[in-house]
Amino acid sequence: MTKGLQLELRNSFRKTFSTACERKRRMEKPRKKFTGFIDDAVAAANKMDRDELLFSYKGILYPVTLCSPEVFRAMESLEARSDDIILAAYPKSGTNWLAQILNDLVAIFEKKTQNKESSGNDEELEEFPYLEIGDTGKYERMNKLPSRRIMITHLLPENLPRSVFKNKAKILLLIRNPKDLVTSFYHFTNGIATLPSYETWDDFFVAFMTKKMPWGCYFEYLSKWNKYAADENVMPMTYEELKENPVLGVKSIAAFFGISLTEEELQTVVERSSFQSMKKNSEKTHGAYANVFFRKGAISDWKNLFSEDQNEKMDKAFEEHIRGTKLGTMLKYDVYCKA
Ligand code: A3P
Repeated sequence: MTKGLQLELRNSFRKTFSTACERKRRMEKPRKKFTGFIDDAVAAANKMDRDELLFSYKGILYPVTLCSPEVFRAMESLEARSDDIILAAYPKSGTNWLAQILNDLVAIFEKKTQNKESSGNDEELEEFPYLEIGDTGKYERMNKLPSRRIMITHLLPENLPRSVFKNKAKILLLIRNPKDLVTSFYHFTNGIATLPSYETWDDFFVAFMTKKMPWGCYFEYLSKWNKYAADENVMPMTYEELKENPVLGVKSIAAFFGISLTEEELQTVVERSSFQSMKKNSEKTHGAYANVFFRKGAISDWKNLFSEDQNEKMDKAFEEHIRGTKLGTMLKYDVYCKA
């Protein structure tokens, strides 16, 4: 046997062996369903009073049943990679929708490049996909996970681990028009025990406009992320543009993360991520809270809630904080937020 052939055989054995080990490791590791995490958090929240549900960290509120200062501190040890796939989105921007698209894209990528099954499986997780939710050991475990990792976050850019920007991880930044977002947040907040509920829409609106929301004020979120919106490693996208042209949206997301798609794969990703498909599958993916996560999935539902006065207040806040910025222009406020 020639030296070249010996080397080739050895490499091929190593590859097969390490893929088999990887599969075995994945199978042996205790896995948990997304619904398991949500159910545990809701069960804990049900034992608490309304005013105990949120805590403040560095001036921002978070749900105690999902986040903790210890985990925030441990998160700094995450070593981000340039091939990581990060989804940054304020709550109710369509995070779960984009998570579905990214999971499918990574599954396609892994099948093609590594000839193995995807790790980005929404039903059985190695780690809860939200970066800031977990235990203090999560980041050390994540550092050992193979590429490509998907991480979802509602955090402000300044609260992400420094390695995310230092190592140029790619970030898909999802934003949604503020009127539909606050409408969605109102229904969500009253539909799940982990967040404080509100007796009326008017009360919720005041809380939203006066910075009492978990994960902080949406206008501040937009203006802080706007500083990164033109970065090479950040791709901003609106809920509305994806809704109006999902084929183009999925195509640009795949291109941004360097994932090639056949026409058939593209159609499959688009079809599987439609609101109808996701809602149909939601009892499996989101359990008891399926209807809370997948409510209407539409544009302009805010028109059913907003009063004239609330319209004026939101228009003024948008004017003051966001209009004229890159993200502000992308949101097409005059198209989606005017009666
Ligand atoms: P609505 O409450 O307006 O229906 P998040 O995932 O960030 O919590 O956002 C939830 C919002 O996204 C909800 O909005 C939900 O219905 C909507 N959504 C979820 N999946 C969607 C999809 N496939 N297409 C469009 N909207 C979707």
